Amino acid sequence: MSKRILIIMAMAAEARPIIDQLRLQALPANPQLQSPFPRFQGEFAGNAIMISLNGTSSEYGVDRIGTEFAALNTQSAIVEFAPDLIINAGTCGAFSTDADIAEIITSDQPVVYHDHRVPLAGFDRFAMGAYPTAYCPEYFQGIGHKLGVVTTGNSLDMPEIDRQWVRQNHGMAKEMECAAVAAAAHLYGIDFLPIKSVTDHIDIELNNVEQFLNNLNKASQKLGETLIRVLANIR
Ligand code: ADE
Repeated sequence: MSKRILIIMAMAAEARPIIDQLRLQALPANPQLQSPFPRFQGEFAGNAIMISLNGTSSEYGVDRIGTEFAALNTQSAIVEFAPDLIINAGTCGAFSTDADIAEIITSDQPVVYHDHRVPLAGFDRFAMGAYPTAYCPEYFQGIGHKLGVVTTGNSLDMPEIDRQWVRQNHGMAKEMECAAVAAAAHLYGIDFLPIKSVTDHIDIELNNVEQFLNNLNKASQKLGETLIRVLANIR
């Protein structure tokens, strides 16, 4: 077994086809956790794989998207599974000049936040994040992808101040979990890699909720195919 790979995903619908294709088995809920994170484990291409989901909100019945549950999920999965590599797979928004719908974006640059603004010495840099990524070109051999900055916030929309921050940080993929997952990986000294597929263009008129819903299936399918091809390249 060459690597232990933990894959953190926020949305169950995005993860289901991948769990099925990799024939991962559902794990029993960890009794130490309140409202546990659904976890699936197995082997693929000589590696041990765990997919851990953010779970469903008991109050609202929807996936627990966003940074809080991504961080809780990642830390507890690290303790349970002791991975060598953590992948955060999911969807993102992107500028139409950077990437087409369903294109894959990964990163060889630090992951940042675009909505943590604290203009106090030291706290400003802490708030913005800048958590390292461990991009390996061999993992993406023969697989179409773009390389750019992944930038995280807790909103699907993009008010002007967020747009300015995304632009200033040269953000390419705007999404809602990556920096939190990367922060947990960094805390434990574990390699981290984002893999994102574009559901919406953040610079066009059609509102991005509508775009997101229209393109979610196409982007999720591309995400699943790509993730499996990347996993097959990891030794
Ligand atoms: N996930 C998919 N599209 C997104 C967007 N525009 N902003 C934040 N998260 C997203």
